Amino acid sequence: MNTPLRWPAEAIWEAVVPDLHGFTVEILPEIDSTNTELMRRARAGRFDPVLLVAERQTAGRGRLGRDWHSGADTNNASAACPSLTFSLGLPLAPRDWSGMSLAVGLSLVESLHTDLRLKWPNDVYFRGRKLAGILIETVAIPEAPGARYAVVGVGVNLHPRSADGLNTPPAWLQEMLPGMEAPDVLRQVVAPLIQTLKAFERSGFSLFQVRFNARDALADLDVVLSDGMTGRAQGVDDVGALQVLSTQGLQKVTSAEVSVRPTP
Ligand code: BTN
Repeated sequence: MNTPLRWPAEAIWEAVVPDLHGFTVEILPEIDSTNTELMRRARAGRFDPVLLVAERQTAGRGRLGRDWHSGADTNNASAACPSLTFSLGLPLAPRDWSGMSLAVGLSLVESLHTDLRLKWPNDVYFRGRKLAGILIETVAIPEAPGARYAVVGVGVNLHPRSADGLNTPPAWLQEMLPGMEAPDVLRQVVAPLIQTLKAFERSGFSLFQVRFNARDALADLDVVLSDGMTGRAQGVDDVGALQVLSTQGLQKVTSAEVSVRPTP
């Protein structure tokens, strides 16, 4: 049987609460999806800042309506928690929301490892394989015009797992950081993530543009977008739009509904 995980809930709470009043930390053994739960709460009028962690999700969700699987590889039944899955909910009122998901991805890679890269808009990659994904959803806060409740969901693979029908098998964090378990990762990423979101709220994406481009997995690669556009990726601009040099000139891609991959 797996040893129960020791989550650093109190240490995270103590580090965060001075800057985020009313902040709470909740750790659950199982839930459908941490994003779904915080969105349910927000739709019921609950907008308090909260970190919700689940040791297991039964209906994890990804971007573009996809599922997010975080199950253990059958060959690695000893893995205590095959992936870290959490959502951070908090009210935010930036002047411009463009690029927020890119800033979140950047915060994760900078907190975790120098060899990690970002595939626009916010997938975390290690040597060409996806290590972590981010799903951001927001709800308007009726009593605070201009503010929205943002639910920032993060899933990080920790142990080897099956490819789940993906073309490329996922990467896992213990490849580069052996022995690092879900509670260690959580402790390392949450406080910087909240600082990033607060800095984004004050200053927008331009503050992060240079650092994002330094970690850009697509830089100077030929890419194909899900809408058919092809060209060479040229980094992101100051609002986080992907710049693609196509035969029609420099195109800016902003739609969260578009996916991009290097040309095979
Ligand atoms: C993606 O890469 O498509 C985004 C994956 C986001 C997964 C995380 S796991 C925690 C949170 N709860 C969810 O249901 N999804 C996000």
